[in-house]
Amino acid sequence: GAPVEADISHLQTGEVMTVAWRGKPVWIINRSDEMLADVDKADAMIADPDTHNPFSIPLPDYCKNKYRARVEHPNILVLIGICTHLGCSPVPRFQTGPQPSLPHDWPGGWFCPCHGSTFDLAGRVFKNKPAPQNLDVPPYMFLSESRIVIG
Ligand code: FES
Repeated sequence: GAPVEADISHLQTGEVMTVAWRGKPVWIINRSDEMLADVDKADAMIADPDTHNPFSIPLPDYCKNKYRARVEHPNILVLIGICTHLGCSPVPRFQTGPQPSLPHDWPGGWFCPCHGSTFDLAGRVFKNKPAPQNLDVPPYMFLSESRIVIG
């Protein structure tokens, strides 16, 4: 499939936008400093914090850090929005607000309604959840401050 461009100039802090790439939803999230702090907080609760699982799409070298983002744009997270368990669509908690059925020590990210996997704000799966690996990060680069090309 062809690379896809996304204009993130209107993506406010705390917001997510979705673009289609190779028939898959790709999320672009503009994380606040608080959201990045939540990634730090989640670290110890993550099954594979450094994304070593060999069955994942190999994490791009430039995203091999805790935030799973380009170092020059640590707040911008780019993820394939498909649960790595059986392919459902995880729901963002940071948009829907706290949900009573979820653990309240979970700093948030995404919740998969199918079998209850939870992911942090870097798309990393929490321990003891059915999803076997972290959400995938597609290859991407910044064309400018406000344009990203995926693929
Ligand atoms: Fe997401 Fe099963 S498909 S937890």
